[in-house]
Amino acid sequence: MTTSMERELEALGRFRMGKIIGGKWKIVQKLDEGGFGSVYKVQSVKDSKIFGALKIELSRPDEANHLKLETEVMKDLHAEGFRAHIPTLYRSGKKKTYCYMIISLLGENLKRLKEKHFSKGMPLRTLTRVGIQALYAIKTMHDRGYVHRDIKPGNFVLGYHSLPPVARFVYIIDFGLARAFAYPPPKGAPAGSRWLSRRARATLDFKGTWRFASPAMHEEKEQGRKDDIWSFLYMLIDLYCELPWGDQDDKKTVEVKKLNISDNDLMTRMPDEFKFIPKHLRSLDVYQRPDYYRIFLALDKVRAKSQFASFDDAYEWELRDSAQANKSAMRKLQPPPGYTHADGFFNWDPLLICGAPSAKDELEIKERFRRAAREASLGTRTGGEQSSDNFEGTDKREGRSPSFHKDAKSVQRSATSTAKLTGAKVSGKSGSRTRIGKSNGASPNPSSRKKRSTSEDSADFIPSCYMNVDIPKHYLIDGKDDQKEIQKGVVKVD
Ligand SMILES: Nc1ncnc2c1ncn2[C@@H]1O[C@H](COP(=O)(O)OP(=O)(O)O)[C@@H](O)[C@H]1O
Ligand SMILES: [Mg+2]
Repeated sequence: MTTSMERELEALGRFRMGKIIGGKWKIVQKLDEGGFGSVYKVQSVKDSKIFGALKIELSRPDEANHLKLETEVMKDLHAEGFRAHIPTLYRSGKKKTYCYMIISLLGENLKRLKEKHFSKGMPLRTLTRVGIQALYAIKTMHDRGYVHRDIKPGNFVLGYHSLPPVARFVYIIDFGLARAFAYPPPKGAPAGSRWLSRRARATLDFKGTWRFASPAMHEEKEQGRKDDIWSFLYMLIDLYCELPWGDQDDKKTVEVKKLNISDNDLMTRMPDEFKFIPKHLRSLDVYQRPDYYRIFLALDKVRAKSQFASFDDAYEWELRDSAQANKSAMRKLQPPPGYTHADGFFNWDPLLICGAPSAKDELEIKERFRRAAREASLGTRTGGEQSSDNFEGTDKREGRSPSFHKDAKSVQRSATSTAKLTGAKVSGKSGSRTRIGKSNGASPNPSSRKKRSTSEDSADFIPSCYMNVDIPKHYLIDGKDDQKEIQKGVVKVD
């Protein structure tokens, strides 16, 4: 047995039922196993009615850790107020052998829902309602300057079934492959300051899931917003009927089929209303913004034509009693959830990016990074304690850390060495995903900097158990205090 396997088994053995994580959460059930770790249901030690989901990733000395990036992205997505369709991060941390985060407890993913309930594919009434919400979630990410890069049915989940106000919400999860394609205006910048586009790289290693990756990913080209929408389209086809390469396990065959299929053949079984999507996506370059509203209108038109497809109607997986409770709870949301106010949302473009950065923009980006690096190094000196926590070294270039340019050469060096260590494309069955090409070497993020222990029990990098998210009024249900928590995704079961 290799040392790394021994380490893995030892670490996994520690996550038995009843184990307390972060001093506050008890493991009560294993929910799932992902490509890079496991997901458990956890219960608050303080209040046995509160539940969350724990995601664990074992630390591998020769690979970058994705959970740190995931937590940064999740925090950032809620940075300007609570966002529906995005889970909330409660707590995260790092130990010697593993990293963890605790987030809203959610329900079943779309892949499993399809397997369980729709052997012949999702009916349009369900596909369109779920699709509209998934599109809402994807655009929410794009509007904060991130591409997800692993859009697929396994990465969309319903809300927790025993929590009626959110049981019908579709959430996007798994931000470990997310990447910033744009930089926000610096803190304190005057209102209306521009986001700056990040220059696309000429080439990159394959990342994502073979079955759902966009054509450009197979060509090892930079991913933009259109690429998430390609994967979204593949997800719709997969859920409704089957992808033309759905029965293929060989990656090369998937790639050849995907890159050579005509738009007509790809869309042959899809409703006519959706048939413009591939052509539209082909017309976009990596910087351009997809026409979310047109895609929404197509989905909504098909939804409106279908029977039992109102957002009040039950989904097939709901039991009769819970469907009624879910419906009344959703109705109490005043005004109702975001996707029913679609035109404003899908037409809104907070980034106003449609091309490569100009030379002036690039200078400005460099200056911003230089400033952030200076602040970070000042923080290091005043912080007193130099952390030996590897987690801090995770390359947030994939996300958006102002500190990654601090030492471009060292980042480049470690990127090269990590690429060597992780090897070229990771093999696995078709549909499995590849997470490579990340590197260590970035400096600590100043915002998460705080004194930390260097012992086994390293401190959490989120200062408190609950993030102080600001919830827009319309996500609250009148009167009740604990509705705030529900909207934050805190699962409380009586
Ligand atoms: N917050 C959650 N609540 C309930 N189940 C979850 C939650 N997060 C993830 N899962 C389940 O675990 C699976 C794997 O999680 P994911 O974040 O996609 O991990 P990976 O990076 O390993 O793919 C998901 O497909 C989903 O079924
Ligand atoms: Mg996943």
